[in-house]
Amino acid sequence: MKLATQNLTKYFGEFKALNEVSIEVKSCITLIIGPNGSGKSTLINTVTGFLRADGGKVFFEDKEITNLPPHEIFKNGIVRTFQTSQPLLKLTVLENLLIAEANYGESIIQSFKRSWLMKEEMLVKRAFSILEFLGIEHMWNERAMNLSGGQLRLVEIGRALMCQTKLIIMDEPIAGVAPDLSHAILKKIKELSGMGISFLIVEHRLDIVLEYIDWVYVMAEGRIIAEGRGKEILENPQVVEVYLGAQG
Ligand SMILES: Nc1ncnc2c1ncn2[C@@H]1O[C@H](COP(=O)(O)OP(=O)(O)OP(=O)(O)O)[C@@H](O)[C@H]1O
Ligand SMILES: [Mg+2]
Repeated sequence: MKLATQNLTKYFGEFKALNEVSIEVKSCITLIIGPNGSGKSTLINTVTGFLRADGGKVFFEDKEITNLPPHEIFKNGIVRTFQTSQPLLKLTVLENLLIAEANYGESIIQSFKRSWLMKEEMLVKRAFSILEFLGIEHMWNERAMNLSGGQLRLVEIGRALMCQTKLIIMDEPIAGVAPDLSHAILKKIKELSGMGISFLIVEHRLDIVLEYIDWVYVMAEGRIIAEGRGKEILENPQVVEVYLGAQG
């Protein structure tokens, strides 16, 4: 098992946003679904150290990582993708990959200096092979701001792959992305999962995402209320009630 939470609990003031959440992420693609406000983003932010847990534990490869700072969690091989920030949008696709590793712990200027000193051919070659794998190598010299939302998701995955990543955690990776590109992104995620990288994904677009994932947890009001293998979870009456019911 790669990642596990045990009774993870998080309060915002009096409000219990995570209520003893226990999940396991194995070497595969794990999905978290649930209505708006059910605690999905809070869960991944707490797992990755961006929020402090008030109770419970997080383990990664049998090592406890509860409440470690984000850069320490990153060093263990967990990457949480974020929407590409403003400064990164001004850089080219290749530059985004080249500074990826340092970007999680240092300033961009520092990481530029460091990577241009140490980098050389090796990093550039690695970046190009990743861009090629993702099918966006022809855009290597394009500024990130000129890419579509879906292409930016691929750049984010590319940045994660530049680091020694074992688990990639993504919050709504295909939100706002056209169906064709969404399928292309999920196929790449599936391929990477076959190569041994685990994924923990939060996503609302079940029509697209369910065919690619191996296991799904359903959250409601800060708790895990069901789990199962893909599409059959939608037949669970409790899930229909809290999740599909909430969608109207
Ligand atoms: N920083 C915060 N301070 C106070 N309350 C918060 C904070 N972040 C989230 N919440 C609350 O915690 C609950 C869970 O929020 P969260 O963002 O985890 O939901 P979600 O399942 O990701 O929803 P969505 O599908 O809309 O993204 C919500 O009621 C939200 O208003
Ligand atoms: Mg969310």
